[in-house]
Amino acid sequence: MTTSFVRKLLLGVLSGEREPIPPLWLMRQAGRYLPEYRALREKAAGFLDLCFDSKRAAEITLQPIRRFGFDAAILFSDILVVPHALGQRVTFVEGEGPRLDALRDPEALQTLRAAIDHAPLEAVYETIARVRQDLPPAVTFLGFCGGPWTLATYMIAGQGTPDQLPARLFAYRHPEAFAKLIDVLVDASASYLVRQFVAGVDAVQIFDTWAGILPAEEFERWCIRPHARIVERVRSEIPGARIIGFPRGAGTELGRYLDAVAVDAIGLDWTIELEFARSVIQKRRPVQGNLDPLALLAGGAALDRSIDAILAAFSKGPLIFNLGHGVLPETPLAHVERLVERVRRAPASG
Ligand code: CP3
Repeated sequence: MTTSFVRKLLLGVLSGEREPIPPLWLMRQAGRYLPEYRALREKAAGFLDLCFDSKRAAEITLQPIRRFGFDAAILFSDILVVPHALGQRVTFVEGEGPRLDALRDPEALQTLRAAIDHAPLEAVYETIARVRQDLPPAVTFLGFCGGPWTLATYMIAGQGTPDQLPARLFAYRHPEAFAKLIDVLVDASASYLVRQFVAGVDAVQIFDTWAGILPAEEFERWCIRPHARIVERVRSEIPGARIIGFPRGAGTELGRYLDAVAVDAIGLDWTIELEFARSVIQKRRPVQGNLDPLALLAGGAALDRSIDAILAAFSKGPLIFNLGHGVLPETPLAHVERLVERVRRAPASG
């Protein structure tokens, strides 16, 4: 095989290299804004069935690579396959989102397995093996898991909530039981990520979407320490495993996160001030982000300005260009094409 001679730009950035044209991918790049995704989605019984249909999930993973030539492919699956593999019932209601059997009190935690069951996840590992075979060698393949805190917010509420109130209350009222749940999720997530590496991903991302709602002390307990333990566990089995942390909304807490969590890069959401992010965060670790998904949806001058501001702020150091959260389903394809073209045009000298 000649593939080993091809450089994967994104992996280079994860090692701290700066690329004159930053590698580019988008969170939720495989999803409803793509007509070819919607066509496959219509044929599937439900969203989770699609996640566990290896052939289709592999095809969906590759769709945005074929259309836009992104530098990374992200496994098509969902963070909620982990609660499913812990024995919690998970379904997706059309047009509404996930529904789980809510864990209302500490006793309910006993309905969960003590450890992850890999059997239902074999289909995910099979998807990874399939994508691996068909992926162009310069494209980095990313796996992922949810952050334990974000998973817990869905597991306890039984659905998405605007303020994550049920999980926050549970953590205050039953801190020991909540800590146990987080421990189970740390073990399950580390074990899941290890199997993703074994199956063939090049790097992984931890999506902690609701990290930003937590007060500082709780952020330390339910986000920072769990991420640190996941990273340690994964590296104890996969030495040098490349890991991107995405504690969304962490803002100025990111410094504390980086003190404790040995991630190779940090995902930034769109709310962070660019000069702070450059001088405080990118000085310490490669950054990924952080275009506002709404600027991508809006297009035009707002999109151009936002792209240019990110390139200007971060182009002197290691950068992976991305959104600050996922692509919105209403996003026009032409705006994504414009983004790709603008990020990849010849960099200004200096
Ligand atoms: O980035 C990627 O494209 C990789 C695949 C991926 C999906 N979800 C596919 C998906 C990843 C990494 C996720 C992460 C995820 N899932 C998170 C964390 C990051 C984030 O986006 O906030 C969360 C909280 C979930 C749980 C989840 N999955 C919700 C709340 C929903 C419903 C909301 C929605 O956008 O529909 C999903 C569904 C989901 N996950 C879709 C996709 C492509 C859409 C399902 C459909 O086709 O109808």
